[in-house]
Amino acid sequence: MKTEIFRTDSAALMNAAAVIQKGGLVAFPTETVYGLGANGLDAQAVSNIFKVKGRPNDNPLILHISHINQIKRLTTELPYQLDKLTAFMPGPLTIVVKRSTLIPDVVTAGLETVAIRIPVQPIAREFISLCGVPVAAPSANLSGKPSPTTAEHVISDLYGRVDGIIEGPNCSVGLESTVLDLSCEVPTILRPGGVTLEQLESVLGHIEVGGSGDKPKAPGMKYRHYAPRAPLIITRGGLAEEIKQHNGKIGVLTVHEDVALDAPHVVFSLGNTPEDYAANLFARLRAFDDEHVDIIISEDIVGGGICEAVRNRLYKAAQYIKG
Ligand code: TXA
Ligand code: MG
Repeated sequence: MKTEIFRTDSAALMNAAAVIQKGGLVAFPTETVYGLGANGLDAQAVSNIFKVKGRPNDNPLILHISHINQIKRLTTELPYQLDKLTAFMPGPLTIVVKRSTLIPDVVTAGLETVAIRIPVQPIAREFISLCGVPVAAPSANLSGKPSPTTAEHVISDLYGRVDGIIEGPNCSVGLESTVLDLSCEVPTILRPGGVTLEQLESVLGHIEVGGSGDKPKAPGMKYRHYAPRAPLIITRGGLAEEIKQHNGKIGVLTVHEDVALDAPHVVFSLGNTPEDYAANLFARLRAFDDEHVDIIISEDIVGGGICEAVRNRLYKAAQYIKG
């Protein structure tokens, strides 16, 4: 398939939106990660997303909209918390609400709820607005690979498999949105992400984490994810000790510790602040693939705030957590 690369000026975004309206697939930048979009009201187009990604079809998609007013058509029950969430909508927050009959089953994987997000990134908002329909979009990676935070990542996974790719800037947050279930009695975080528990509690009061009892978690959270090719070990016992135990080309991911290793081994830092860790994690995991390392050893990520989300993604990518 021929993949058209779109620039980010309005004329190019209009052409990209026309591809969505004709039932095609277009990858686009957001502040979290790149998304792979289709017309969210077109069941055939949405099912192509699953095919292209190799995504299990029991894993529902997020509908992306450009304005909070558009939520009304998509739900039978407008959540009363919506007014309090305007600081994060637009932003890296996805809400789960009761779905309306407008939404094809393939989007929600048959669930009675639907996930909705309003990206804040200007290119994303303009593109979604030009599409004129809710845009169903998962992260624009092949299923199982680290989510894409640069246009190059998307091109490497999806060039030749999708109709278009909008070549935008790197994603500033670098991790997916927080998924917050508002369809249950107490708002519940199903996936930690760009908006922190602390931020949500500051406007909503008490919220649950993880989905308790009878409520399923975000279906996508049960799959191994975000994985680089080489096995990843997280160590809590010190990098130097762990490195000694391995042969072959070693990749090391550092947070606080300083280690020096001679070539061919490679050492990548996640950066200096928790925001850096989030912005860099997926790109570093992919960079280890490019370096063809045999094993990756990472420090653990500790702490709350955005570190919750960084730790969640790192653990999902890992084979072992030691110590
Ligand atoms: O930041 C993001 O959220 C990115 C950008 C592109 O917006 N999108 C993204 O989509 O990460 P995806 O498909 O990779 O992850 C969506 C998550 C999955 O864990 C899925 O199971 C969950 O949201 N989800 C979707 N609909 C749901 C629903 N009705 N109930 C519970 N979880 C749902
Ligand atoms: Mg994903």
